[in-house]
This record gives sequence, structure tokens and C-alpha cells, in this order.
Amino acid sequence: MKIMVINGPSLNMLGIREKEVYGSASYGDLVRFIEESAARLGVQVQVLQSNHEGQIIDWLQQAWFDGFGGVVINPGAYTHTSIAIADAIRSIAPLPVVEVHLSDIDAREDYRKVSYCAPFCVAQIKGQGFAGYLQAIEKLQKMAVL
Ligand code: DQA
Repeated sequence: MKIMVINGPSLNMLGIREKEVYGSASYGDLVRFIEESAARLGVQVQVLQSNHEGQIIDWLQQAWFDGFGGVVINPGAYTHTSIAIADAIRSIAPLPVVEVHLSDIDAREDYRKVSYCAPFCVAQIKGQGFAGYLQAIEKLQKMAVL
């Protein structure tokens, strides 16, 4: 099974940005964690990051056209603003998409409590740090098996 992992804006700044919220591990550490977790599960994974809304939409569509089994997405701040990314997730249904957030977006500012993407995702995992990505991959793997 092949899973695409898409990380949105400023996730490349992990280890530099707001360490009290996101911790001191770097984006490279996150990519390694995802690749090693996927390898242990026997899942092929492509990990991508962009600060650009249109690029994220192009990758979601590519996941569909290239026959990926599912997508894990952390849309960063676009979670709370982007109808375009929500529409792109909706447009690739029934390809399952899991939304992941390192922090607990419900325990932060009010504007982070809204996710335009979540209604079109099979699950939202938040506040679990790196482990949330592993849980998301496991969820997609189980869905493919059932
Ligand atoms: C985030 C939460 C978002 O609200 C924020 O804009 C991010 C990161 C998270 O992983 O916790 O950039 O998606």
C-alpha cells in the first residue's frame, strides 16, 4: 500500500518555530519518524511539504491519479482557512484522507477550532505530536485491509 503524507505551511520550521507548542525536533526528524514507522508497517510512503496552497491541491489530485491508497495531511494554518484544500479533499473521494495536527487545535485559539477539511476526512488526529502520523497511517492501513 502506498500512502502520501502532505505537510502544509511552516511545518518545515519544526524545531525552530514555537518550540513550546511543537517541540524541539526538526522537520527532518519528523520525516525520518514517518518513513521508519511506515517501513515497520510495510507501507510505502511519500512525504511532502509545501508552503503553497495550490501545490498542496496538486499533490492531493496526484494521489488520486497515481493510485495512492490514502493520504495523511497536516494542512497547517490552511486547515482553518482553505475551502480550496477542503474541496480538493472532497474531489478525490472515496480516497481516504486523515487530517493530523501535532498540537491539540481544540485547546488553542478559537480560530483553530474550525477545520474546513475535517468534514471530508475519515478521521482527525490532534495533539499526539509525531505519534499522530503513525496513528493516521495505521488507520489507513486498516481501512485498506477491511
Ligand atoms: C498545526 C496546527 C495549526 O493550527 C497551525 O497553523 C500549524 C500546525 C499542528 O500541526 O498542530 O501550522 O496544523
